[in-house]
Amino acid sequence: MTGISRKNIAVFASGNGSNFRAIHRAVTEEAFPGRIDLLVSNQPDCGAVAFAAKNRIRAEIINFRQYPDKLSLGQHLISILTALPADLIVLAGFLKMIPDSVVQAYKHRILNIHPALLPRFGGKGFYGIRVHEAVIASGAKLSGATVHFVDEIYDHGPILAQASVPVLAEDTAETLAQRVLGVEHSLYPHAVKAFCEERIFWKNNIPFIRN
Ligand code: GRF
Repeated sequence: MTGISRKNIAVFASGNGSNFRAIHRAVTEEAFPGRIDLLVSNQPDCGAVAFAAKNRIRAEIINFRQYPDKLSLGQHLISILTALPADLIVLAGFLKMIPDSVVQAYKHRILNIHPALLPRFGGKGFYGIRVHEAVIASGAKLSGATVHFVDEIYDHGPILAQASVPVLAEDTAETLAQRVLGVEHSLYPHAVKAFCEERIFWKNNIPFIRN
């Protein structure tokens, strides 16, 4: 893969970090023109931070409440990211809103994964187990995971990749969440790899992955 520069990836995570681990595995085990240089978290005690420590990935713990406004928080994040410099920001279970200034500075360079088939079951309030409860309550027979570029609105930016799973009669929100998480762990590395290999192209403002 000549001519493709190695991409610096900053992962943002607040929780268990299973997507972070899946992406890290792909980055380290596959021929992958990228590396994870930084974890940003707002939760010092979460699984993602523990995984970063174990794998000697630098972690920046940011207390979002410490910043008086979105502007100063955005400036702080941008200074950390430009110091790398980051080519790609990967939100992997990050529970805080990214300030608009960061979204604008990294347009089409921030990815998020959502545990449902957007544009349904997304937006404010649709996080964690609530997403799966809503899917089951709707009667939908398919759910899945969506990787999308981040814009200024929750779960709203251009959809890059999706994978579906069935919703079964015997499902609880917990069993559905596990099934969806299973496909997240292959979908997200696939999308991040496509970005790093410069295989994403845009048509009518919609991103696609070239094989
Ligand atoms: C995943 O379900 C993801 O879709 C959502 O947050 C969860 C993160 O899980 N954005 P993990 O921390 O990667 O295990």
